[in-house]
Amino acid sequence: MKGVFLKQFLKNPTSIGAICPSSKALAREITSKVELKSALNIAELGPGTGVFTDAILSLKHPKAKFFSVELNENMFNLMQKRFGDHNGVTVFNDSATNLKNMRNELMMEKLDVIVSGLPWASFPESLQDSLLEAIFNNLHDEGYFATFAYVQGMLLPAAQKFKKKLKQHFSEVEKSKVVWKNTPPAFVYRCRK
Ligand SMILES: C[S@@+](CC[C@H](N)C(=O)[O-])C[C@H]1O[C@@H](n2cnc3c(N)ncnc32)[C@H](O)[C@@H]1O
Repeated sequence: MKGVFLKQFLKNPTSIGAICPSSKALAREITSKVELKSALNIAELGPGTGVFTDAILSLKHPKAKFFSVELNENMFNLMQKRFGDHNGVTVFNDSATNLKNMRNELMMEKLDVIVSGLPWASFPESLQDSLLEAIFNNLHDEGYFATFAYVQGMLLPAAQKFKKKLKQHFSEVEKSKVVWKNTPPAFVYRCRK
């Protein structure tokens, strides 16, 4: 799966935004402390090869509704191969900006938890804004939004600006400890509406 990831990164560096998938350690961190076990409606944005999807599936309630949305067609095909027969998750080939359509298709209430694997740092500000708007509008009151960032990227003004945007949108924004067992090391922002 690392090979597929690198190939897609070389073809679409801005939308893939990483040279290899996240580690299981980061998957554990991003899915913790967001009340996943009691969530009824869950979405994942930008699953790539499905590292966070595995973690969500292992934690979520069997009756919880869960969808994952992947923009890249090759990554989507891989996700379909891995999870297409799994009745715990529906995978869409679409942009995360269209969250509402997917929720409607599955007749889901507003989301209790949204887990993001999106590469925010490589997105233009206009795309960051429309994604954050979609996330905020589709999240239940007091719902959780979890996303990650690379430690080394925090030196850049764009990363500071993104952190400010999170604080403008959400009532609580908490930064996790650094997950060193990830290439490159990363941390999680846990945000609450
Ligand atoms: C950095 S990779 C992370 C993949 C995986 N979550 C992980 O951590 O290993 C980002 C993923 O987001 C997807 N992506 C980028 N823009 C997207 C969008 N607007 N909607 C849905 N997925 C998107 C990319 O195709 C890629 O698979």
